[in-house]
Amino acid sequence: MKLSLMYSYLNTDLAIIEKELEASIKGNHPVLQQAGLHLLQSGGKRLRPVFVLLGGKFGDYDINVIKNVAVTLELIHTASLVHDDVIDDADLRRGKPTIKAKWDNKIAMYAGDYILGSSLEIITKLPNPLLHKLLAHTIVEVCLGEIEQIKDKYRFDQNLRCYLRRIKRKTALLIASSCQLGAVAADVPTEVHKKLFLYGYYVGMAFQITDDILDFTGTDEQLGKPAGSDLMQGNITLPVLYAMKNESLKQQIVQVSERTTAAEIKPLITAIKQSDAIKQAEALSNRYLEKAYKILGELPACRARNTLYNVAKYIGKRKF
Ligand code: IPE
Ligand code: IPE
Ligand code: MG
Ligand code: MG
Ligand code: MG
Repeated sequence: MKLSLMYSYLNTDLAIIEKELEASIKGNHPVLQQAGLHLLQSGGKRLRPVFVLLGGKFGDYDINVIKNVAVTLELIHTASLVHDDVIDDADLRRGKPTIKAKWDNKIAMYAGDYILGSSLEIITKLPNPLLHKLLAHTIVEVCLGEIEQIKDKYRFDQNLRCYLRRIKRKTALLIASSCQLGAVAADVPTEVHKKLFLYGYYVGMAFQITDDILDFTGTDEQLGKPAGSDLMQGNITLPVLYAMKNESLKQQIVQVSERTTAAEIKPLITAIKQSDAIKQAEALSNRYLEKAYKILGELPACRARNTLYNVAKYIGKRKF
């Protein structure tokens, strides 16, 4: 099933969130506003707002309250993408030039900060200190994940634990927080919102593993972003870690450096694609998804729970 059809019953609320997202970026600085709107209007799956709303459905759902959480989480995600494209030197995002490509790195730095600041303005409309505490912690962790990735570039001796800790920080925690904070804003009991957090964490891990697989198996057109660039940039992702279990592939992989050209890396990417590494990475993603399904079984049965199940299934199969 198409992703958006799984939650078409949320469409009215998602439209409200879309309007508020735009309004939050409209400020008095033309360049920051243009840069922010450029990225917002270029699409994106809006998965984090969907998780927020679904989390809220487990409690006293009030769109006028919960919309603030949804907008905040999407803005934090957006800001992290603006900065990520600087770090990853990426020129394409959602099929459009990135902010760093269309403007430059300095504008991207402040556009990211501006969007992040706007997100904080919005969450503080809600007085619950638990929301603020959990959100602040998540932002700190995302930054740690991205900085660890820079530190671990071209470090071929890193292990699986290192990779998993990094993707937990840079991706899974934001998805986990989306599920949990939506629930917290709807006064869901603690034991329920903690389980929603766990669901989001497992799904988030599978989501980034899939993103890392797609970097090998997808095309620029499918993904709307440059495929095949992780290894080129020295980012050791799960398919690479598995490929290095093969001695001959390992010998080629450890040769990759800042000086490696795109032409040199192409046959290596093909070899990794043809090895067992992709299947093994898919298997680990599926193990996380199984954990997500299991935790859903412990949550109160409701329509949102079914949707969370379907979204997790989609994540295991997604092609973009
Ligand atoms: C991209 O996230 C960054 C990762 C965490 C892999 P999404 O794939 O959710 O990006 P958009 O918002 O749909 O563009
Ligand atoms: C996820 O990592 C980005 C963030 C968590 C900010 P990637 O670098 O793999 O994301 P894409 O592939 O550029 O979307
Ligand atoms: Mg990155
Ligand atoms: Mg990137
Ligand atoms: Mg990626």
